[in-house]
Amino acid sequence: MTPSDSSPREPAARASRTAAPAAAPSDAPDDAAPRPNAWQRTLGTASNPDLKLAMAASGTALSLFTVGHMAGNMQVYAGRERFNEYARLLRHAGAPVLPPNTLLWVARTGLLASAGVHVLAGTELTVRSMRREGRTVAGTAWQVTRRIATVVDSRPRLALPGRPTSAPEQATGTPMAYRRAPFDGALLPDRSGAPRRRPRGRRRTLPQIVARSMRSTGAVLGLFVGYHVLDLTTGTRPAAARSFEHGDAYGNLVSSLSRPAVAAFYAASMAALAGHMVHGLRTTALDTGLTGTAQRVHQVDVAAKAVGAVVAIGNVSIPVAVQIKVVR
Ligand code: HEM
Repeated sequence: MTPSDSSPREPAARASRTAAPAAAPSDAPDDAAPRPNAWQRTLGTASNPDLKLAMAASGTALSLFTVGHMAGNMQVYAGRERFNEYARLLRHAGAPVLPPNTLLWVARTGLLASAGVHVLAGTELTVRSMRREGRTVAGTAWQVTRRIATVVDSRPRLALPGRPTSAPEQATGTPMAYRRAPFDGALLPDRSGAPRRRPRGRRRTLPQIVARSMRSTGAVLGLFVGYHVLDLTTGTRPAAARSFEHGDAYGNLVSSLSRPAVAAFYAASMAALAGHMVHGLRTTALDTGLTGTAQRVHQVDVAAKAVGAVVAIGNVSIPVAVQIKVVR
């Protein structure tokens, strides 16, 4: 789903540059000019501020859902009856005026639309920024794969005598790029010779790391939600526990989160959620002009951190409570 590298306005501009003014009739179709595809006609023509506003609006809708969902999840501490009653009420909201599941489907449609807008606008903004920096999607994917491979290969093992066990310093004092030897884990100079580690004092702070990880935390959340719906809503094996039963939301939640790997995945995803929400809420305030003064910037920062922390801690408490058998 990657748009091509040319802007939708380019074909027209190219056509007008190459056409001979006297020979070309103004209304003749230009077969040489590629027709813009659907992506270029819609997202490609939107301005950056419009795309950012679309991300802010859809992100706010998703955040509101996440806060409400976390509050609803807290009912698990009130016991099986109460939690299942709450899940049943969600399905029958609006009854008897509306048939069962009507409002649920309205909410699902809104959520899907918000998630779709958020991902599409984010993809277009990412592709634009990569194009500006002269990077390509394939090149970036290769770099990420290489970085993951380096991390996987960097587990320390037996360091042989004569090989350095810590990063060798260059004469300049700049830390050198290094790699781990595949079998004994010793540190060797990196083949590329490019400095890999950031010099001390210029390491990134946590907010910087969070800000730079929006795409990866977003991808983790996408995977999490996909898994989560198969696990607790549709009950699809192997995502769902063997004992999944439609209508027993409490039982399904407990049997799912009793699996340690699943509980760990839920908890780790909530860390990604916290980072994504905190930076997303801060950016939303910035992009919509809510941060006019230094004091307002500070207030927004505190509020975003508070919302992210409450949602993440509230949600993480559930897999932990199931694992330590407070909820069973
Ligand atoms: C530990 C944290 C969480 C727990 C314990 C939890 C629990 C649940 C449960 C029990 C259901 C099924 C309700 C039912 O079908 O009766 C559900 C559905 C769902 N959850 Fe979560 N949830 C958590 C975190 C999240 C997060 C962070 C998101 C989004 C970012 C999310 C998105 C959804 C969605 C989209 C559904 C499907 C709603 C539907 O279509 O019926 N959940 N969750």
